[in-house]
Amino acid sequence: MFVRTASERDLEAVRALLVETWHATYDPLYGAEGVTAISERWHSVVWLKQLMRRPRSEFIVADTGSELAGMAYAAIKESDSGLVEVEELDVRPSMQGKGVGRMLLAELEESFWDCRLMRLEVEEKNSRALDFYRAGGFVELQRRPATRWVNATIVTLEKPLG
Ligand SMILES: CC(C)(COP(=O)(O)OP(=O)(O)OC[C@H]1O[C@@H](n2cnc3c(N)ncnc32)[C@H](O)[C@@H]1OP(=O)(O)O)[C@@H](O)C(=O)NCCC(=O)NCCS
Repeated sequence: MFVRTASERDLEAVRALLVETWHATYDPLYGAEGVTAISERWHSVVWLKQLMRRPRSEFIVADTGSELAGMAYAAIKESDSGLVEVEELDVRPSMQGKGVGRMLLAELEESFWDCRLMRLEVEEKNSRALDFYRAGGFVELQRRPATRWVNATIVTLEKPLG
């Protein structure tokens, strides 16, 4: 298993990984139809390509040599060059619990070593992800109602870098 920068050639496989992982994670919470609607927009190759081209961002994948096991994307906030926001971190369901998420997060932290803070958002009911981030040193900053889903609460977590 190795972690590397993603290229445009990876984007179809990244899209498939995101669709699979999001259905496995969020269908029980929001229903398959809602997750499909989100995936069509936010996991499209067109959108992923835009993310990849953003300045001061990192788009990485965990590669087994024969398939992608996970992906992560983070970017520096435009209004604060010391703050990096993790916008996606997903490990294929069959590969979860094997240290892949930890590897991806460590690579992002290293890439943004000159930032002061890493921030991300997790849905409150996604307890697996909350446990993962807390184990990685993140602490809760605030909770707020989601704009994307009804009856969802978003937890913001932060970790100092450097
Ligand atoms: C959350 C996620 C990224 C974690 O990645 P992962 O590869 O499964 O996690 P790792 O195997 O690297 O775990 C690293 C550490 O996190 C903690 N951890 C991971 N899963 C945990 C769980 N279910 N319960 C408690 N602690 C957990 C442990 O401390 C673990 O270290 P250990 O294996 O030495 O005990 C992954 O499960 C995932 O993609 N989930 C679905 C999508 C998602 O929710 N993404 C995040 C949205 S913000």
